Amino acid sequence: RGLHLLCSLVISLKSMSILGDVCPRLCRCDAKLAYCDGLNLTEVPHNLSSAMGLSLRDNSLTELRERQFSSLTQLTWLYLDRNSIESVEENSFARLRRVKELNLSTNKINSLPNSTFRDLPNLRILDLSHNNIQALEPNLFYGLRKLSDLHLRHNAIKYVPVRSFQDCRSMKFLDLGHNRLQSLARNSFAGLVKLTELHLEHNELVKVNLAHFPRLLSLRSLYMDHNRATIVVSTLDWTYQFLERIDFSGNAIEYIEPHVFDSVPNLKSLKLDLNKLTYIDQRILNSWASLTSITLSGNTWECSRNVCALASWLSNFKGQCDDGLLCSSPDMTQGEDILDAVYAFQLCEDSVDATTQMYTMSRERARGYSHEEATMNPHGLQHTEAGPMVTSSFTVTDASNDLESTMHIHKVVTGTMALIFSFLIAVLMLYVCWKCFPASVRRIRNCFASQRRKQKQKQTMQQMAAMSAQEYYVDYKPNHIEGALVIINEYGSCTCQQQASRECEV
Ligand SMILES: *[C@@H]1O[C@H](CO)[C@@H](O)[C@H](O)[C@H]1NC(C)=O
Ligand SMILES: *[C@@H]1O[C@H](CO)[C@@H](O)[C@H](O)[C@H]1NC(C)=O
Ligand SMILES: *[C@@H]1O[C@H](CO)[C@@H](O)[C@H](O)[C@H]1NC(C)=O
Ligand SMILES: *[C@@H]1O[C@H](CO)[C@@H](O)[C@H](O)[C@H]1NC(C)=O
Repeated sequence: RGLHLLCSLVISLKSMSILGDVCPRLCRCDAKLAYCDGLNLTEVPHNLSSAMGLSLRDNSLTELRERQFSSLTQLTWLYLDRNSIESVEENSFARLRRVKELNLSTNKINSLPNSTFRDLPNLRILDLSHNNIQALEPNLFYGLRKLSDLHLRHNAIKYVPVRSFQDCRSMKFLDLGHNRLQSLARNSFAGLVKLTELHLEHNELVKVNLAHFPRLLSLRSLYMDHNRATIVVSTLDWTYQFLERIDFSGNAIEYIEPHVFDSVPNLKSLKLDLNKLTYIDQRILNSWASLTSITLSGNTWECSRNVCALASWLSNFKGQCDDGLLCSSPDMTQGEDILDAVYAFQLCEDSVDATTQMYTMSRERARGYSHEEATMNPHGLQHTEAGPMVTSSFTVTDASNDLESTMHIHKVVTGTMALIFSFLIAVLMLYVCWKCFPASVRRIRNCFASQRRKQKQKQTMQQMAAMSAQEYYVDYKPNHIEGALVIINEYGSCTCQQQASRECEV
């Protein structure tokens, strides 16, 4: 224990002598480097004027005030990460001309004044990741000619102002991943001639345009995975000689302009998995000559003739490719591996046209054919290869005739049914009438019979009247007819049905 005490005394003496100041309480000092990590500090310790490195990592600083560090003119690195810094005043880093590395990661910074880094011309590594920065001031990185690594990951940046990095001619690494970028300007990355690695993954970009990266002479890796891009285009004639790694996975890419990869002649690794591609254009496949690794799974491959180019390219590809390139349409191929589907459904046989293929597919499906069977039994496959092709076109037309005649038969049957049905209804009604109103039927018959009788009577009377002496009976004649009419009317008003219905109700 005594030895331990002695040792720490020696160490603190040593650090005192070298630091030239008193090492702040609870800090650990090593030569001219001071480590004050995890001490709940809310203030920057004093008397460290000769320190060359200061770590205040994991403390409780909430703000950086103007000229806060101005006595620390010898500092070459300053760690302020994992504090609770919300505000950074202008000129907070005044007189820190030697600082090469500044870590402000994992704080609560919302915005940085445009002059924040104006006094740090030698800055090489700047970490602003895991903050809440929403906008970059247009001139924030002005004058940082030696900056090589800039970390802006995990913020809330919505756009990158034009020519933000114009001065950063030494920058090699730029990480803007996990932000809220929705679009890029053509000159957002202008001036980054030494940039080798660009991270734009996990943003909200809706389009990939290689023209957004003009004159990035040294670019080797481009990460744009997990955005919302639906198309990949290139509206600039520029060749990315050194670009060898591209990650476009986890977007919603449906379309890639055929010439896009012509501008990336040395591409080695390409990730396109988890997109919405349905096919790959032959020209694109031709431009993938330098690839050694590719991912294409998790797309919506359409296993029709469109897939043939890709299938052929894949079967000749010598590099690494991920598994699980599954067909998502047409229905009968759904879930099949692309190459299996091409083989099993003979999608790419040159001699047969598309109609026949579709027919063959459905035919095989109907038979319960599956590629597992095919792999187990090559003879079975050979059989199907030769079999159904010949008559296919006939069968297709037959099928359409069949359809028409079926429709016809259907119509006839329906008509007949309707006829029979209405006849039956009529019969039924008659039967009901007869059952319900037997009296009325009788009465109707009587009615007609009596009417006929009366008419006969009337006729006879008229004849008699006509035959009688016309002179004497002129006055009487109308009366006679009247009487006859009354009698008829009496019967006429005896509406048979009314009586009948009354009978029915009873
Ligand atoms: C830091 O301060 C909080 C309260 O302000 C206290 O609970 C915690 O124990 C302190 N931690 C250290 C390491 O001093
Ligand atoms: C430490 O700094 C304070 C204030 O800046 C000063 O008063 C004090 O004399 C300094 N102590 C030493 C040992 O330099
Ligand atoms: C900055 O600090 C964070 C959090 O402590 C750490 O993860 C990161 O690696 C540091 N950045 C650099 C460039 O060292
Ligand atoms: C910095 O920002 C302030 C206020 O936003 C503005 O007035 C000033 O012109 C800017 N300075 C530079 C050099 O961009």
